This record gives sequence, structure tokens and C-alpha cells, in this order.
Amino acid sequence: MSYQTLIVEIADGVALIRLNRPEALNALNSQLLGELAAALSTLDADPAVRCFVLTGSDKAFAAGADIKEMADKSFVDMLKLDFFGTEGDAILRTRKPVIAAVAGYALGGGCELAMMCDFILCAENAKFGQPEINLGVVAGIGGTQRLTRFVGKSKSMEMHLTGRFMDAAEAERSGLVSRVLPLADLLPEALATARKIAEKSAIATMVAKDCVNRAYETTLREGVLYERRVFHALFATEDQKEGMAAFAEKRPAKFADK
Ligand code: CAA
Repeated sequence: MSYQTLIVEIADGVALIRLNRPEALNALNSQLLGELAAALSTLDADPAVRCFVLTGSDKAFAAGADIKEMADKSFVDMLKLDFFGTEGDAILRTRKPVIAAVAGYALGGGCELAMMCDFILCAENAKFGQPEINLGVVAGIGGTQRLTRFVGKSKSMEMHLTGRFMDAAEAERSGLVSRVLPLADLLPEALATARKIAEKSAIATMVAKDCVNRAYETTLREGVLYERRVFHALFATEDQKEGMAAFAEKRPAKFADK
């Protein structure tokens, strides 16, 4: 498939999706979000892809929803379009792991998009923020909910109420990102991490993602029970037999995704 707002490359089991609207700092317009949702759902079903890396440019992961596209919309327009609800759901439905590699601005919808990924690696120049308050609105793709779960109420509230940006060091300190890297290392390290994930059993990575996400959506007791049951279920797979045999035989495992 060809896209106008994305550049997609597949190698070694990893699909690298680059947001590509440099003229607007990768602002998320409906075309970009529609293409992103389509690319993720097509590639999620492609056996050649085992992990995703989602990235932007050195200057911006994405500077938010496209303000110019939204500016003249009415309440009814937004409601009828379910503005970004449909595309957001498509992103969240991706079953293979998605790593966000964030350099530069990840603001508003850009920060929200990064938080919809499974984890975030960022460059030292990354800036995260939910500045919608400056536009007379609030976050609309989950920012008030997800940022609060990542960094806690106090910091999330301050960021949503003031619109201030968080730098990479603060983002790492507060648990928003898993690691901060020098800008030049961000993409190579994100791709290396994705390749490492791509070598695992695709069944186990899918189940691990599912279990960790459940921690956000259920009680501890239910989540632990769910994890235990799927752990038991993995003993029905060939990959479990192979992984444990390979350990005992001191050789690398060769997973068949069965
Ligand atoms: N939407 C549309 N266009 C945008 C944009 C956005 N979110 N962010 C940047 N652009 C455009 C600018 O209008 C500019 O275009 P022109 O050259 O045609 O004027 C181009 O990208 C470059 O931007 P700047 O000249 O502003 O670059 P800068 O380096 O001076 O500043 C910035 C960078 C601080 C990120 C600034 O662009 C900015 O504040 N952007 C808006 C950030 C924002 O408010 N994001 C939240 C959007 S609302 C949202 O996301 C709602 C939601 O949750 C769903």
C-alpha cells in the first residue's frame, strides 16, 4: 500500500512507520490518522511483521491534532465524525507490539498517540505536553486519562491545566518513557529493540501485551487471575516446549508461532 502522510519500511520482521507531514510538524489530520489506522491494521495481519516502530522526524513526533483542520468544526461535525475515536480504536486494536520512538515535540494528540503505543523510547530533545488548554479545549484522544495513569494526578493535572511541556529527563523520571537516548541513537536503538521482540514467539508477545494492558483496565485480583490463566494456556503451545527445551539444551530457541 502507498501512503501520502506515512513512510513505511519493513525489514527483519519490523515495520517502521514514519509520520510524514513535515510542513505541519506531523500534525495529526484525518488523512494521517486514517492512513495510520489502515497501515497498522493491514500490517498487524501481515506475517512478515512481528513488531512496529512508530516515529516522526528529529523535530517532531507529532505537534498534536491538526488545529487548522479542526478550527471551524462544530459540535455536530465532531460528534458525527467521532473525531479520532474510530482511528484511535484502530491503533489500540493492534495486537503486535508497537514502540513509539519520540524525538522533538509530542504534544496534544502527539503525546496521546505516543501513549497509545506499548512503550515509549525518546530522544534527549523530546518534549511532551498537553497544551490543548491554550486553545480553549481539552485533550481529546485519551490524554487526561492516560497521562494521569502514567505520571500520577499531580503532574498530569499541572500539565493539562497549564499546558507546560515536560522534557525527556522529567518524562523518564516520572515513568512516561521507558528510556531516553541521544537523538542519533533513538531510531537505531528502537529498531534493535523491535528486532529483539521480533525474535520472540509471536504468541507470547501478543499475550504479554494483552496481560500488561489488562493492568490498566481491571482490578489487581482479576488481572492476576487473567495472567495466571493465559500463562497456563501457553503450555498448549509448541513455542513453550521449544523455549524451555532450548534453555535446557543451551541453544537459541527457534519459535514457530505455534
Ligand atoms: N496543527 C496544525 N499545524 C501545526 C500544528 C498543529 N497542531 N503544530 C504546528 N503546526 C504548523 C504551524 O502552523 C506551522 O505551519 P506554517 O509554517 O504553515 O505556519 C508549522 O507547523 C511549523 O510550526 P511553527 O512555526 O509553530 O514551529 P515552531 O518551532 O515555532 O513551534 C510548536 C513548534 C511549539 C510545536 C508550535 O508549532 C505549536 O505550539 N504547535 C501547536 C501545539 C498544540 O497546541 N498541540 C495541540 C493540538 S490540539 C490537540 O491535539 C487536541 C487533541 O488532543 C485531540
